[in-house]
Amino acid sequence: MSINRTQVDVESLVDVRNGIQAKKIFWDQEIYDLEIEQIFGKCWQFLTHDSLIPNPGDFTTGFMAEDEVFVMRQDDGSVKAFLNVCSHRGARLVAAEAGNARAFSCPYHGWSYSMDGALKVVPMEKELYRGALDKSQFGLREIRVESYRGLYYGNLDPQAPSLSDYLGDVKFYLDIWMEVNGGIELVGPPSRSLLNCNWKTPAENFVGDAYHVGWTHVASLMALGGELSSIGGMEAPPNEGLGMQVTSRFGHGFGVLWDTAPAVHAIGSDAGKLYREWFASRRPKMVEKLGAQVGRIYGSHLNGTIFPNNSYLLGTNSFKLWVRRGPHQIEVFSWTIVEKEMPSELKNAIVTGMNSTFGTAGMLASDDSDNMESMTQNNRGRATREGKLNSQLGLGFDKLDSVFPGVIGQSAIGETSYRGFYRAYKEILGADNWQTILDLDPDAWKRELTGQ
Ligand code: FES
Ligand SMILES: [Fe+2]
Repeated sequence: MSINRTQVDVESLVDVRNGIQAKKIFWDQEIYDLEIEQIFGKCWQFLTHDSLIPNPGDFTTGFMAEDEVFVMRQDDGSVKAFLNVCSHRGARLVAAEAGNARAFSCPYHGWSYSMDGALKVVPMEKELYRGALDKSQFGLREIRVESYRGLYYGNLDPQAPSLSDYLGDVKFYLDIWMEVNGGIELVGPPSRSLLNCNWKTPAENFVGDAYHVGWTHVASLMALGGELSSIGGMEAPPNEGLGMQVTSRFGHGFGVLWDTAPAVHAIGSDAGKLYREWFASRRPKMVEKLGAQVGRIYGSHLNGTIFPNNSYLLGTNSFKLWVRRGPHQIEVFSWTIVEKEMPSELKNAIVTGMNSTFGTAGMLASDDSDNMESMTQNNRGRATREGKLNSQLGLGFDKLDSVFPGVIGQSAIGETSYRGFYRAYKEILGADNWQTILDLDPDAWKRELTGQ
């Protein structure tokens, strides 16, 4: 269903300057329907990674909001994506999560499509259609796809800026991690689970919530050991030098905890030990190449979100997609990030470490789930959902920096990237189209967030 934008008062949902959002953004059906049109209809959404479809014919299936899609490596090495829907009567075409194929036949009546989406075979075409079916008009609906550092994203809006422009300032930071040592791989198949929460509750948590770590996760971190085992409780860690937050024009953001990349891999100790040795051997090269300040990103822990619904932890090596299932439920997809050149012993240890912490039954993921569900489900209360959400932590201290691009929050524990996420959310949710956004002063968003 398409929704008229006048049905939702977008302006009232986010107060950028004061770091406030309306609670109803986690609940209301009208807002959800508008997000489908405006956010998920216009923004780049993660589909797959080079490492998951290395050979011609390799494919993965997935979701863009509630549209089912599949992505396939072509014979010429390029990658195409299509709606996973048969052009005849609309049955799901590809049932498998991943695989290799030269063609797909629909399970309903057998219409068959080639790798490039063309309709090739229609059972009994000659006898039944008697030349009246124009197969060239009934290929699969192709989706715009672009890639960055091996990550493929799809976009339903032909007017959207390129993926590279959309990523903007965060490319500087992604490059440090994703270009390094021959690039990264995503290890699948992804674990999948359902959470009864709005898609924005994990997306905002990953974009910039170091605040909850020493509280929500305190018991798990003590059990895990390692660098973060002592950060729990009410005592504030030293503000200076702990980390920083970064946000960017289209809402992508992250937080950094300096020098703690292998922090939660202390579990089982193998991964932690191997990972520490790996960083010790590789980081000096990054520092030599990028300078001490920027090179320090590599080997630090990053928690981030690519707006709208793709999150990652670098160091803890989790790569997440929050797939919407209506306003009050998501399906969580979790892959493990490894560097291509890591020895297989380390890769395996990281996969185990990631799944023990941020997989479906991971200790830290389980800690988070209850918060995300209650932040959503509490809003069934009429009075509750009239309330406001506060993201004022660090407000007034956001700055531009001569070394690091984007708007920078001075402390690791802040809500700078929350504010950047919801600034972009409001702008995209309320815009007529991409052109009206791109016509704005390209630095206005920085002034809005920093107040300068
Ligand atoms: S719905 Fe696919 S062949 Fe009929
Ligand atoms: Fe968490």
